[in-house]
Amino acid sequence: MDIKIRQISIYDLDAVAKIEKICFPEAEAATRESLDQRIKTFPHNFFVAEEDKKIIGLINGCITNESSIYDELYEDSSLHVPDGDYQTIFGLDVLPDYRNHGIAAQLMNYMIKISKASGRKGVILTCKKKLIHYYSKFGYVNKGISKSVHGGVTWYDMILKF
Ligand SMILES: CC(C)(COP(=O)(O)OP(=O)(O)OC[C@H]1O[C@@H](n2cnc3c(N)ncnc32)[C@H](O)[C@@H]1OP(=O)(O)O)[C@@H](O)C(=O)NCCC(=O)NCCS
Repeated sequence: MDIKIRQISIYDLDAVAKIEKICFPEAEAATRESLDQRIKTFPHNFFVAEEDKKIIGLINGCITNESSIYDELYEDSSLHVPDGDYQTIFGLDVLPDYRNHGIAAQLMNYMIKISKASGRKGVILTCKKKLIHYYSKFGYVNKGISKSVHGGVTWYDMILKF
């Protein structure tokens, strides 16, 4: 597969809203309105993966000075601190038909590279237990159960320090 990773544009809103709906249960998926806000607030921290001009995956997250994600960050774009310390990962999605080909890994490595080049202290995310091993492969360390109750499920805080 010839995958291209590029920055999001507002014209991609329909495509990414559709992917988010396919990839997450309703309670966890970012709404179209929320994705619209994210594109407008932190376009430099929102990337898509394309194959043959079709968007098949995405990664995004705001910047914060906190070293763990807290729920208000997801919905309140005024909490984005453009020159802050940590890149967050709000969403990492790959369409089901394209999974297990390393596309999420390409998106993650791209976000890590951009974050390093931007002088961040690291990248933070929350994930379900079943994906802790996956993120560990990028160097993320599990800090334990997160205070996030997003979607009513248990999340684990993970941090990759540069
Ligand atoms: C998680 C996700 C982004 C991975 O995308 P991908 O392009 O298939 O990822 P890669 O090809 O880089 O790697 C696949 C890895 O994900 C792991 N994985 C994916 N879903 C998993 C699950 N439900 N349980 C356990 N491991 C899972 C695979 O085991 C594989 O790990 P391996 O490399 O150790 O074999 C994709 O499955 C997805 O969009 N899932 C739904 C949304 C989601 O949960 N996103 C993560 C938010 S924290």
